[in-house]
Amino acid sequence: MFKKTILALGIAASGAAFAQVSVTIDTAKPGPVINKNIYGQFAEHLGAGIYEGMWVGPDSKIPNTRGWRNDVIGALKDMHVPLVRWPGGCFADEYHWRDGIGPRDKRPVKVNTNWGGVEESNAVGTHEFFDLAEQLGAEVYVNGNLGTGSNQEMAEWIEYMTSDSKSTLAELRRKNGRDKPWKVDYFAIGNEAWGCGGEMSPEHYTQLYKTATVFLKAPPGSRPKLIASGGNDSSTAWTDALSKLKSNVDGISYHYYTLPTGVWEKKGAATGFQENEWISTIKNTLVMDASIRKNVAVMDKNDPQKKIGFYVDEWGTWYDVEPGTNAGFLFQQNSLRDAVVAALNFNIFHDHADRVRMTNIAQMVNVLQAMILTDKDKMLLTPTYHAYKMYVPFQDATYLPAKISNNGKYTLGSTTVPQVSASAARAKDGKVYVALVNTNPNKAVDVTVNLSGAKAGKLTGQVLTAQAMDAHNTFAHPEAVKPAPFSAAASGGKVVVKLPAKSVLVGAVE
Ligand code: AHR
Repeated sequence: MFKKTILALGIAASGAAFAQVSVTIDTAKPGPVINKNIYGQFAEHLGAGIYEGMWVGPDSKIPNTRGWRNDVIGALKDMHVPLVRWPGGCFADEYHWRDGIGPRDKRPVKVNTNWGGVEESNAVGTHEFFDLAEQLGAEVYVNGNLGTGSNQEMAEWIEYMTSDSKSTLAELRRKNGRDKPWKVDYFAIGNEAWGCGGEMSPEHYTQLYKTATVFLKAPPGSRPKLIASGGNDSSTAWTDALSKLKSNVDGISYHYYTLPTGVWEKKGAATGFQENEWISTIKNTLVMDASIRKNVAVMDKNDPQKKIGFYVDEWGTWYDVEPGTNAGFLFQQNSLRDAVVAALNFNIFHDHADRVRMTNIAQMVNVLQAMILTDKDKMLLTPTYHAYKMYVPFQDATYLPAKISNNGKYTLGSTTVPQVSASAARAKDGKVYVALVNTNPNKAVDVTVNLSGAKAGKLTGQVLTAQAMDAHNTFAHPEAVKPAPFSAAASGGKVVVKLPAKSVLVGAVE
C-alpha cells in the first residue's frame, strides 16, 4: 500500500539529470530559531469559532472536558498548537473582562455588535480561556480593550490574572476557582486601531499605547510581552511610529489577508473557482514577503538591536462567506488551495524568523481559514490543518538557508509566480527537514535537493495534493484531502523529488 502511494504520487529517486529546479540547503550556515509561535492560532468570539466549534458547555451531550469538546481539542493537540490569541480581533475592543467571570448563569448577555449582532452569553471568559490553553498546552495571548475600555480596566485584568497577592482582585480570582496566578505570555493593547479599534492615526495610537503601558504592571517576572497594534497595508507608518518607542514594546502586530480578487466587496469563492483565482490567490499571498521586508527595514533602522518582534497576528485567506450562512460569521470552506497558501506563508515567515517571532492564522475553528470545521457533533480536519501538522518539526527548529536555483515560473494570462517555494531547518530532533511547495496546479516539477553537509540516505515524509484545485473535505467525505507518505533515496548528497502539481511536501533527511 505504502509503495503504491509512493508510485501514484510519482516521487522519483533517480539521478539529477532531469531536474529543472534545485534547492541547496546550507547546513553549515544555521540562522535564527523559528519561534514555535509562528504557528500560533487565533480564536475570536465570532460565529461558531468558539461557541459550538470548541465550547459546548459542560452539560452538552457532545463529549467535553469542562465544556471544551474533546474531539476538537484532541485534534488541535495533535497539531501542537503552540499559542492561542483571544478574545479578538474587533471583538476585543468591545470586550469587558468582568462580564466573563463568576457563575456562568449570572454573566451578562451582550450583543456581539461586530459579528452578526448575535447574543454573546459570556459563557467563555478568562477562566474558560485559560482552561482551553492548559488543555492544549499552549501559550496565551490576551488582547486588551483599548477601544471601549480603559487603562484601569486593562491594568485590573492583568492584576486579576497574574497577582499572587491577597488583593481583592486576586481573591476574586480564587473565589472564582483559580488559586494560583496564570502566566500571561502576551498582552496586546487594542486591535486594528486604524479601523474597528477606533479609527486612529499612528501618532494618536502610539501616544495612547505609551500611556497605557505605564499602568500595565504585573508582579516581578510575570509581566506579559506587550504588543502594540500595528498596520495592515503597504504603508509602514504604523511600524515606524511604534518601533521608535524605546521601551515597553515587545512586538508590533501586522494584519494581512489573502483575497483571491483583492477586492473586499467581491473577494472570490472558497471552492468552485477558476484557475485565474488560483493564481491570483498565490500572487496575493506572496505579497506577504514584500510587506514583511518593508516593515522590517523600517524596524532595522529604528531598532537595530532587534528587540522588537514583528507579529503577523492575523493572516490567511478571506473569501465570500458560504452561500446561505450568516455573513457576520465568516464561515468558509477550505481547500487544497488554502494548504498551499498556508505553506507559502510558513516558508516566508521562516525567512524572516529573526523578526517574525509570532503569527496567528485567522482563525482556529469554523472562521475564515480554519483548521477544523464542525457541524453539531461532527468535525472535519481541513487541508490547512494538514499543512500545519506537516510543518510541526519546524516549530523551534533552527533555520537553514535553502537557496532555489533555476526556479520555474507558473504563468496564467498576464500573471506569473515562482513555481517552487522551499524552506529548511534543523529540528529539535537533530534532523534536517525540507519543505517544498509547487504552486502550479497543472504541472509536476522535478526538484533536486542538494543536502550539502548533511549525511543523506533518503528524504522521507508526507505530501499533500489532490486532483482538483478546490479539493476539500466535507462531512460526507472528511478524508478527501489528506497527506500521503513519500520517500526518496539520496545519492551523492542529492535527492530528486518529483513534486506533484499543486502540492505541499515536508520531509526529513535520514
Ligand atoms: O479575523 C476577523 C477580523 O479581521 C478581526 O476581528 C479583525 O481584527 C480583522 O479585521
